[in-house]
Amino acid sequence: MNSEHLSAPLGVFDSGVGGLSILKELHHQVPAEHLIYVADQAHVPYGARSLAQVRQFSEGITRFLLSQGAKMIVVACNTASAAALHYLRRVFPETPFVGMEPALKPAAETTRSGVVGVLATPATFQGELYASLVNRYAQDITVLQDTCPGLVAQIEAGEKNGGETRRILEKALEPMLSAGADTLVLGCTHYPFVSELIQQISGPGVRIIDPAPAVARQARRLLQARGWLGEAGGSSTGTRGSVRLFTTGDLDHLRRVLPYFWSGEAESAALHWQGDSLHFFQS
Ligand code: DGL
Repeated sequence: MNSEHLSAPLGVFDSGVGGLSILKELHHQVPAEHLIYVADQAHVPYGARSLAQVRQFSEGITRFLLSQGAKMIVVACNTASAAALHYLRRVFPETPFVGMEPALKPAAETTRSGVVGVLATPATFQGELYASLVNRYAQDITVLQDTCPGLVAQIEAGEKNGGETRRILEKALEPMLSAGADTLVLGCTHYPFVSELIQQISGPGVRIIDPAPAVARQARRLLQARGWLGEAGGSSTGTRGSVRLFTTGDLDHLRRVLPYFWSGEAESAALHWQGDSLHFFQS
C-alpha cells in the first residue's frame, strides 16, 4: 500500500456549483478523503459551449488538480464527462477518473409507464455518450428530453426556489408529465439542488433519479480496489478530510451563495485562467 496515496486529495470539478451535489456525497461516503473542488465559474454554463471547448477547460482543470497532488479525478459534471472523459483518460493514463452519464439505464429498468424524462444540457445531449445510452437502454421506452434553458444560471445565482426557476421547470416538465412520464433523470449536476421543486411540480408519483450517490459509490470502489482509501475512511476515529473550494470566477459571489449549496466547513480561494492553464490568484 502506498501511504502517499492514502492522504492525497481527490480532485473534483464542474462548471460551477452543480458538482457540489457530488462533493456532498463524496464527503459523506468517503469522509476521510481530502477534497479539492474547482468551479469553473469563469466559463459557466458549459452546456451551451462546443464539446471541444469544454474538453480544453477540462484538461486545464485536471492539470491543476494533479499539480495539487490529486490521486483521482471525479468529473462532477455531465457536460464535461460527455465532452472530455475519454480524452482525459487517454491523456492522463496513470490517473483514475470517475465520470458521469445521465442515468438512463436505471430509469429504463424501473419505469412503469414506459415514459422517461431527461433534463440535461444541450452539450450533453449532443455527445456520443448520450446517443449510445439511448441505443443501449432506451429502445423500448419513450425518452423525452429538455435542456431547461436558463436553469443553470438561476441555480448559480442561488435561486433554488424563485419564480423564474419554477417557470423554467414547469415549461420543461409539463410536456413530460402530460405524456405520462413517471421517472425523471437529473442529467446535470446542478439539478439535484432543485429536486424538491421538481418533485413539487411533478407530484409524489414521479421518481427522480439523482446520480450523486452512485457516483460517490463508484469513487469509493475504485479507491478501495487500489488500496487508496483514506485511512480513517468511515472508521471509528471519525476523522474528516478537509475541503478546499476554488473558483475561476468571482470569489465573493461564491462565498455569498455557498450556504445554499454546502453546509460543512470549507476553505475557498480564487484561481485564474492564463491561456489554457490555471493559476492561483494573486491580488
Ligand atoms: N453541471 C453541469 C452538468 O452536469 C454543467 C452545467 C453547465 O455548466 O451548463 O452538466
